[in-house]
Amino acid sequence: MTNISVNYMGLTLSSPVIAASSGLTTQLDKIESFEKAGVGAIVVKSLFEEQIVDEADFLNSRSNDYPESADYLHHYMRQYSIEKYLNLLREIKEKVSIPVIASINCYSKGEWVSYAREIEKTGVNAIELNIYSLPLNIHKSSSDVEKEYLDVIGTVTKMLKIPVAVKIAGYVTNLPGFVNNLKAYGAKGVVMFNRFYTPDIDIAKLKIVAAEAFSTETESLRELRWMGIVSALVPGIDLSSSTGIHTGETAIKQLLAGATTVQMCTALYKRGAEAISDVNQDIHIFMEKHGFKNIKDFKGMLNYSNIADPRKFERVQFMKNFGGK
Ligand SMILES: Cc1cc2nc3c(=O)[nH]c(=O)nc-3n(C[C@H](O)[C@H](O)[C@H](O)COP(=O)(O)O)c2cc1C
Repeated sequence: MTNISVNYMGLTLSSPVIAASSGLTTQLDKIESFEKAGVGAIVVKSLFEEQIVDEADFLNSRSNDYPESADYLHHYMRQYSIEKYLNLLREIKEKVSIPVIASINCYSKGEWVSYAREIEKTGVNAIELNIYSLPLNIHKSSSDVEKEYLDVIGTVTKMLKIPVAVKIAGYVTNLPGFVNNLKAYGAKGVVMFNRFYTPDIDIAKLKIVAAEAFSTETESLRELRWMGIVSALVPGIDLSSSTGIHTGETAIKQLLAGATTVQMCTALYKRGAEAISDVNQDIHIFMEKHGFKNIKDFKGMLNYSNIADPRKFERVQFMKNFGGK
């Protein structure tokens, strides 16, 4: 009998498959169907830092004639967004028994930090911080930017009792070093990687348009390298793989490289809850075939420390393999 349960940041998950934060994880019927399909946990749609700020600013701009009302509106709108989110979390917690992870999408140590404790009080099992600000200041160093992120993580992890995961961008100068710092600042998990809204150009209309919102499966190869390296170099922190996890095969690869969990979004939009049960089933079949009883029997088996030739993870230039072509 194969057991696919995992321990993610101290939480027991019946499966390593997590429903990633998206519009789907605001819908109670969808969340219930994911639970029925055997999902290990869900990450609720993010509360956005700018969502709180912008809503308030929008109303403020319409109340210029009555400046005395602006402060009240600012406070009211902020509270309204937060209240809506807190209610959603409470409703989800009541409906399902799987671990529920709240999500905050932030770019600075703004006032939202003070709401993290309110989120914890809803009974959610963890918080995922999706932290990124597009760097546009050419005079700022990458370590300055990273220090700002670490400052946010340190503040939030000190405030909360529940575990905090950080969902990061794949663009970091020294990724293992950064993850090691996240761990030192109290993060219990790191989600590698976020997939951003991306601009594209329509050459017929000569316009900037939104690029495809959904991933392709091959995008998961980017995190496969880093999963293999980071899981070996930074032990003691749980890694969750995100982007391009569409099938059991991609999920199993990430686990072999050292992921504790895998997150699915695009596959859930395209195939619904069945995508989750299919991945769970594929993991069971894979484990039976190879004689693995538990996930830990093969987790990280092919990571940077555990393979005979770690240079296979290090190789970044095509020269050696394709130099002659
Ligand atoms: C429609 C949509 C909404 C999303 N909303 C959020 C969000 O609120 N917070 C977040 O951290 N990620 C969000 N994401 C990113 C996903 O959680 C996930 O990291 C990304 O889509 C890559 O996973 P995938 O390849 O399985 O799609 C969203 C993605 C999509 C497509």
